[in-house]
Amino acid sequence: MEIFKEIKPLKAFLSQKWGLVSIGLVPTMGALHAGHLSLIGASKLENQLTICSIFVNPAQFNNPKDLEKYPRTLDLDLSLLESAGCDVVFAPAVPEIYDHDSTISFDFGHLDKILEGKFRPGHFSGVALVVSKFFNIIRPSTAYFGQKDFQQFKIIEKLVNELKFDLHLKRMSIFREADGLAMSSRNMRLNGLERKKATVFYESLAAAKKLLTQGESISKVKEFVAQKCESVEGIKLDYFELASAENLKITETVTTETVLLIAGFIGEVRLIDNLLMNENE
Ligand code: PAF
Repeated sequence: MEIFKEIKPLKAFLSQKWGLVSIGLVPTMGALHAGHLSLIGASKLENQLTICSIFVNPAQFNNPKDLEKYPRTLDLDLSLLESAGCDVVFAPAVPEIYDHDSTISFDFGHLDKILEGKFRPGHFSGVALVVSKFFNIIRPSTAYFGQKDFQQFKIIEKLVNELKFDLHLKRMSIFREADGLAMSSRNMRLNGLERKKATVFYESLAAAKKLLTQGESISKVKEFVAQKCESVEGIKLDYFELASAENLKITETVTTETVLLIAGFIGEVRLIDNLLMNENE
């Protein structure tokens, strides 16, 4: 496995591959788990070369404490990637990516004003900035993202369409622990008790989906989810919403194309999750 920390040698390496082999990119912020490794597996199946980027991107953190506490486990990540058969790792330091004060920002219209965008102002602009940089540096044929960050995927789809990046995007299913908790690097920050309580988000989504399928009204289901989350000490619900999986507009009607999205705090750690109405659990 080749490991690059700088753009120049990475591009020199890739210049011998561009146009000759298909390149799959799995962008990550490290602290890798089985969900990330499934993206590496998908890329390996579909491409001749798989690159994983590991970069905790300061531009997408609106809360400095969250950035400081974000788990960083580079040595372990590298050994996991090696075992998963990843070909190349790009793990730059911050100055390599942000070499001067960047003033570029993105506006995705309604897409970045709702849900996560409302609670984390500037977050998606920071995501779009770093993802654009990586797309330009690496020039992948396909980039792989997890469905857990459903809104992020919609933003990146728009970014690719608007800026005409010449690549395919793949959204891969959420990987869950045995008790339903969506895998996330942030789960590492939960203590034992918080980890047990964190299942409330997935349980709420699954119960909400069942109630909606049985014909319960959206307002009753929202009340139910709020009460379920409130009943667990240490949980603070930011939102539970229903949106169109196509355009992410908040919806008041349920169809097979509806996605249920939830976010909240457990202690100091903020988690997100989602479930599609037409998804097999
Ligand atoms: O989903 C993530 O881990 C990050 O938001 C991403 C896409 C790697 C950009 O920093």
